[in-house]
Amino acid sequence: MNNDKVVIITGANSGIGKEATRKFAQEGYTVVMACRNMEISKLVQQELMQETNNEQIKLMNVDMSSFQSIQQFCLQFKMLYNKLDILIHNAAYFNHGEKYRLSTNNIELTFATNVFGPFLMTTLLKDHLKQSTDPRILHASSNIVKHFFDSKKKIEFDKIVGNKIDKKNHSVYKMYCQSKMALVLLTFKMAEEYKADGISIHALQINGAKMSKATLNKVTLKWRTIAYVQNVFFPPPKKMADLYYHICTLNESKMTTGQLFNDKGESMIPAPKNPTFIDEVKQFSGSTYYPHYAASKENQEKIWDLCAEITKDYRAKEILC
Ligand SMILES: NC(=O)c1ccc[n+]([C@@H]2O[C@H](COP(=O)([O-])OP(=O)(O)OC[C@H]3O[C@@H](n4cnc5c(N)ncnc54)[C@H](OP(=O)(O)O)[C@@H]3O)[C@@H](O)[C@H]2O)c1
Repeated sequence: MNNDKVVIITGANSGIGKEATRKFAQEGYTVVMACRNMEISKLVQQELMQETNNEQIKLMNVDMSSFQSIQQFCLQFKMLYNKLDILIHNAAYFNHGEKYRLSTNNIELTFATNVFGPFLMTTLLKDHLKQSTDPRILHASSNIVKHFFDSKKKIEFDKIVGNKIDKKNHSVYKMYCQSKMALVLLTFKMAEEYKADGISIHALQINGAKMSKATLNKVTLKWRTIAYVQNVFFPPPKKMADLYYHICTLNESKMTTGQLFNDKGESMIPAPKNPTFIDEVKQFSGSTYYPHYAASKENQEKIWDLCAEITKDYRAKEILC
C-alpha cells in the first residue's frame, strides 16, 4: 500500500534510525538510509532487507556535517527519485567530553551536523517534497532542551562559526543542548515558511532511548559510565522509532504543522512566561511544556537567518550544477 512512498532517514545505521528504517520498511515504504559509515551501514541494510523482505531499502552516502556532501547526496537522490514523501532528520553529533572540533566548512561540529546540515538538506529537497501528496519532515530533538527553562540560558551565537570559538571553555554537551534547541526553533520557523507549500514539519522531544555499544564507545569514559546507568532505565530505540512513524503518517499531524511532540506523542505547549511553583514542578518533571525561549519569534528568526546565511553558497551552487 505504501510502495510508492519514499522516506529518507539520516543516521539510519544504528539506534533509533535503524529501528525507524525497519518500521518503515515493514510498512512497505521505500527507505533511503542516508549514512556516513558505509561499511557498517551496508551490513545493516542487508540485515533489514532480509528481515523485512523489502528490497526497497536503499543506502546512500552522506556526511551531515559537510555541506558539499549534502549537496552531492541531494543531487544523486534527485536523479534517482522524482519525489520525496518523508524526510527524517535523525542523525546527530553528541560525543560528550570530546574536544572542540570544526566541520569542513569551519562550523562548530555539533551545530554543523545537528542544525545547518538538516537545514541545507531540507532546502535542497524542498521541490521534491512538494511533489508528494502528503510531505512531512521530522526533526529529532531532545529533552536536554529543558536546560532552557533557566531564563539565563541562551544559544551562544558567537560560538558557532569556527574562528570565533573560545576553545578553552568549549563544551560539546552545551553545544549539543543548544543545537537541539536551535532545531526546535528551526522547526517552528520552517513550519511557517513551508505552510503555503503544504509541507508539514514537526519535532520530537526524545527523553531517552537505549544506546548501542558502538554509540557508547564514541563518548569519553565519564559520559560512557553515565550512559550505561541511563541505559538501564531507557526504553528500547524501537519505542521512539514507532513514534517517528506515528508522527509522520498520522492524519491529524498532516492537518497541523510546527508542533513539538513529547515521547507520549502529545503536542507540547510553551511554558508560561511567569511560571507558578506548580508550573515549575511540571517543567522539570513532566513533558507538557517546552521552554519559553523556543516560542520567541525573535529567536526563531535569528536561527533561521543564520541557517540561510551560513548555507547560502551551497544552496546557490546547487542550482548551477
Ligand atoms: N538515545 C537517546 O537517549 C536520545 C535522547 C535524546 C535525543 N536523541 C536523539 O535521537 C537521535 C538518534 O539517536 P540514537 O540514540 O539513535 O543515536 P545513535 O545510535 O548514535 O545514532 C546516531 C546516528 O547519527 C549518525 N551520524 C552522526 N554524525 C553523522 C554525520 N555527520 N553524518 C551522517 N550521520 C551521522 C551516526 O552514524 P555513524 O555510525 O556514522 O556515527 C548514527 O547512525 C539523535 O538525533 C539524538 O540526538 C537520542
